[in-house]
Amino acid sequence: ITMDSFAKYLLAWFDVHGRSNLPWQHPRTPYRVWLSEVMLQQTQVRTVIPYFERFVLALPTLIDLANTPQDRVLGLWSGLGYYSRARNLHRCAQMCVEQHNGELPDAMEALAALPGIGRSTAAAILAQAHDQSHAILDGNVRRVLARFHGLHGWPGQSAVQAELWRLAESHTPSRRVADYTQAIMDLGALVCTRSKPRCSECPLSGDCVARREGLTAQLPQPKPQ
Ligand code: ADE
Repeated sequence: ITMDSFAKYLLAWFDVHGRSNLPWQHPRTPYRVWLSEVMLQQTQVRTVIPYFERFVLALPTLIDLANTPQDRVLGLWSGLGYYSRARNLHRCAQMCVEQHNGELPDAMEALAALPGIGRSTAAAILAQAHDQSHAILDGNVRRVLARFHGLHGWPGQSAVQAELWRLAESHTPSRRVADYTQAIMDLGALVCTRSKPRCSECPLSGDCVARREGLTAQLPQPKPQ
């Protein structure tokens, strides 16, 4: 079985240009990957890095997090914003202690049932921490896929969203899925940017519909007024 060429080109790009020295990648434990993914839900990598370092120094394990008062968790989160993320993180750690033997579940259904962990965050954790093949679909990935496939329509629409998940699944490889997951997020953040995408540096530009049709500025389409 051969790898989808989308994944193949993306992984070759990642090997040269991808981010492989992020603090949550070394060591890459489920707790550290989970914490980083929650911090990265609404915050950029370069902002997250110092908060992540401080947080894991203060609370190195899931058990430490579960056993610390909520005030302390909120204090460590202070400056990152969207504080419901911190409250969910804390509750989630306590639920893992009570229901999952003090560990994050490594199965999709159980993981996505926890507070603050949606389908894409669960997939990112399982891919990066356990090398399980699951598709992710965050804002960066939506942009890459909408452009590459020339998919019109607002991604907030359920039919468009469903098509994006289908496309995301169709490209997700069974091997090197941790690298692939990081690669597609990095491509969206570093090359296939919202404005002025760097198409000349993109490993997928040869087959990109938006590039061919001059539609990168139009896709993905915004919410209709
Ligand atoms: N956004 C969400 N998860 C991310 C990750 N692992 N790397 C970069 N950006 C991200």
